[in-house]
Amino acid sequence: MAGPDLGPEIGPDRITMQVTRYRPDKTSQPVPLDYEVPLRKEWTILDGLNHIKAEQDETLSYRWSCRMGICGSCGMNVNGEPRLTCGTFLSDYAPGPVRVEPLANFPVVKDLIVDMTDFMEKLPRVKPWIIRDDDVTEIDGEYLQTPDELDAYRQFSMCINCMLCYAACPVYGLDPDFVGPAAIALAERYDLDSRDNGARERLDVLIEREGVWGCTFVGECTRVPQARGPRGRDPALQAQGCSGVGQGVPAPPGVQVSTSTGRVPSYQQRIGVFWWLRKRTYFAFVMRELSSIFVAWFVVFLVAFTAAVGGGDESYEDFLDWASHPLVLALNVIASAFLVLHTITWFALTPQAMVLRLGGRRVPGFVIIAAQYAGLLVVSAFIWWLVVIA
Ligand code: FES
Repeated sequence: MAGPDLGPEIGPDRITMQVTRYRPDKTSQPVPLDYEVPLRKEWTILDGLNHIKAEQDETLSYRWSCRMGICGSCGMNVNGEPRLTCGTFLSDYAPGPVRVEPLANFPVVKDLIVDMTDFMEKLPRVKPWIIRDDDVTEIDGEYLQTPDELDAYRQFSMCINCMLCYAACPVYGLDPDFVGPAAIALAERYDLDSRDNGARERLDVLIEREGVWGCTFVGECTRVPQARGPRGRDPALQAQGCSGVGQGVPAPPGVQVSTSTGRVPSYQQRIGVFWWLRKRTYFAFVMRELSSIFVAWFVVFLVAFTAAVGGGDESYEDFLDWASHPLVLALNVIASAFLVLHTITWFALTPQAMVLRLGGRRVPGFVIIAAQYAGLLVVSAFIWWLVVIA
C-alpha cells in the first residue's frame, strides 16, 4: 500500500534503500537489492518500503499494521540496529544508502519477515498473566489496586512484543535456549503487580540456566530507543499476525528448514566470528567475560605461592625465580589490568543482578556499589596490615 501524501519532497532528493530480499521459492540465499525512493521529510522507513511495494516491486514482503508504534509488527534492522520502521525517519539516514534487513537473531522466512515461533513459545513460559491464590470470579468484583501499587509495575507494562530487544541481545543470538529480555521483563511486570500471586511459579522458569542466568547484562536490550520490553510489558499476548506465512511450503535445495516449526523454509542469519567488535558494549561484555580467565589465573598463582611458602626456603626461592621471569611478569601485568576491569564491572553490575530491600524499600544501586568498594578497602587494609605491619 502506498503511503499517503505526507508533504513536499525535500527538493528533488531521493535516497537509496538497500533492502535484503529472500524468496525461498526463487533463491537459496538472501541478496541485498537497491531501490531509490523519494526522500520526503515526513517519510519513515516503512513509508519507503510501502513506496517500493506500491511503485516498484509488489513482491516485497514485510510486516506492518498500525503505523504508529503500537502493534510492534514492523521491527527490522535499519543500518544494523533494530528499529520500529514506522517510527524511524528516512531523513535521519540521508544521504543514504540505508540498509533495511530482517531483525537479527531470528530465522527469516521471506524478505523482511522473520519466524516468530521461538519468541511466541517463550513468552508463555513465564506465565505473563495474573495468577491468583484465591478463586475470584468477575461476579465477585474487581481486583482493586491503589495508584502506588500501579506505579510499582507501570514502567514494565508498555511492551508491544516488537522483538527489538531480542534482535539487540547477543546472548539470544548465541544461545537460542535463553528465554530472552522481554520474557524476563514480563515476569517482573507480573511479579510486581499487587494483584498477582504467581511469583513462585515464574521463579521456577527464571532460575533455570536459560532464565535470568542467561542474561549477562550486556544491556543492549535496554538501549534500543523504541524497545519497551525490558522496561515494560503489555499483558496481552496477541496472536501473531501474518499467519500462514510460508507454512507447508517445501524448502528449496540449500535452504535450511526451521527446526522451530519443521515446516517453514527459512535461513538462519549468521553471527560473524567478530560480532563482538561491532559495538563498544559488545566489546566491553566480551572483555568482562574474558577477565574471568585472569581471575582463575590469580587463584592458581596464589595456590602455587602458598604451596611454595609451605615447602620451605628452597621451594620459596624457586617460586620467586619463576615469578620474576619476564613472561610471568608480563602475564601478571596483563592479568592485573583484567582484574581491575573484572572488579569494576562486577561491582557495577551487582545492583542490577540483585535487588536488595531494606524495610520494604529498594536499596539504591550506588549504595550497593559504594558498600562493595568499602568492603574491598577494609579487606585490603587488613591484608596489608597482616603482611606488612604484623
Ligand atoms: Fe505497528 Fe510499526 S506498524 S508498530
